[in-house]
Amino acid sequence: MIDRTFTIIKPNAVADGNTGKILDMIIAAGFRVIGLKLTCMDRNQAQKFYAIHRDRPFFGELVDFMTSGPVVVGLLEKEHAVADLRRLVGATDPAKAEPGTIRNLFARSVTKNAIHASDSDENARCEWSQFFTEEEIITADYRG
Ligand code: RTP
Ligand code: MG
Repeated sequence: MIDRTFTIIKPNAVADGNTGKILDMIIAAGFRVIGLKLTCMDRNQAQKFYAIHRDRPFFGELVDFMTSGPVVVGLLEKEHAVADLRRLVGATDPAKAEPGTIRNLFARSVTKNAIHASDSDENARCEWSQFFTEEEIITADYRG
């Protein structure tokens, strides 16, 4: 069963020039990229995307950060995509992220933690539909 998950390479990782390295790690881990774009989130988009955290003390800082520069959004396909990407990304706090995980390698702080990964199939669908139309998703059987 091939599942989909959604990722955002966050502003600190793009600004640090780590987009390519992170995509390399994702592809080397067996994910197929079926949607990809460089974009800037506006405040409405960021507030909607992280609405679940609306009442948390870090929400304002999180929205400021996510709108501080370009991000790369990606739609990924793999068996067990959601769980496997969460494992590759590592813990939210980079100080607790396993060695070799994306956050261990590229995060600067809990907020500037380099990458987002969906935490359920349902949330993945909700999240990718905020960035990709059905027409933008590559359904052809390509390798890459
Ligand atoms: P994400 O949604 O971005 O993949 O991260 P996550 O599941 O690992 O963590 P989550 O609890 O959903 O938090 C979302 C993002 O909010 C920022 N955050 N800051 N300052 C803080 O205590 C704090 N806690 C969370 C991080 O950017 C986190 O990824
Ligand atoms: Mg989360």
